[in-house]
Amino acid sequence: MSNVVITTSGRADELTEAEVLQATQLERVWREPHGFWGWFQAVHHTTIGKRYAVTAFGFFLLAGLLAGVMRLQLAFPEAHFLSPDKYNQFFTVHGTTMMFLFAVPMMFEALSVYLVPLMVGTRNIAFPRLNAYSYYLYLFGGLMFYAAFLTNTGSDNGWFSYVPLAGPDFAPGKRSDFWACLLRQVIG
Ligand code: HEM
Repeated sequence: MSNVVITTSGRADELTEAEVLQATQLERVWREPHGFWGWFQAVHHTTIGKRYAVTAFGFFLLAGLLAGVMRLQLAFPEAHFLSPDKYNQFFTVHGTTMMFLFAVPMMFEALSVYLVPLMVGTRNIAFPRLNAYSYYLYLFGGLMFYAAFLTNTGSDNGWFSYVPLAGPDFAPGKRSDFWACLLRQVIG
């Protein structure tokens, strides 16, 4: 069998056996894994980039839900739909989600992970496994943050979490710790 390939310049090149072997090995190494476990093993930048976009959009919807509840509270004077404590948690979780779980991952991670390797013409992003690991940190950090919110441990110091409001004097308990854990996982 002849190993002729047409190169990008339109030239027909004959590949040696070693080159064919190398190309086959590369094809095998970079092939997208299949099945249930394969889904977790995926490291291709387009797959991870799309996951960032879909997950960021999911968090955007969650934060939008919180915004809707806040607007309900603000829609009528003297409304008691949310307690002051819950309102503080709602706007903090809403703001933090919009900024760190939606805007930043959508603008930077999703777009750059998807596009940059295509723009520079590389096979994948540098350190593809680290890239996939970052995605899982982002996903599980965000889910942990919402688990804390659902168990009344949602941060209530605003999305910027300034001290002294976020310090031990004004924010006793674990709420600020959970917020810091999220940022450590998503941004750190
Ligand atoms: C229709 C969509 C939205 C509605 C109805 C909405 C509503 C609100 C409300 C009611 C607050 C609380 C204001 C307060 O009482 O201090 C708030 C805060 C905030 N929102 Fe939104 N929002 C929306 C979309 C967004 C988007 C798209 C972003 C950013 C990408 C965003 C980022 C923030 C931030 C950073 C805060 C401040 C949170 C804090 O003070 O800790 N919001 N929003």
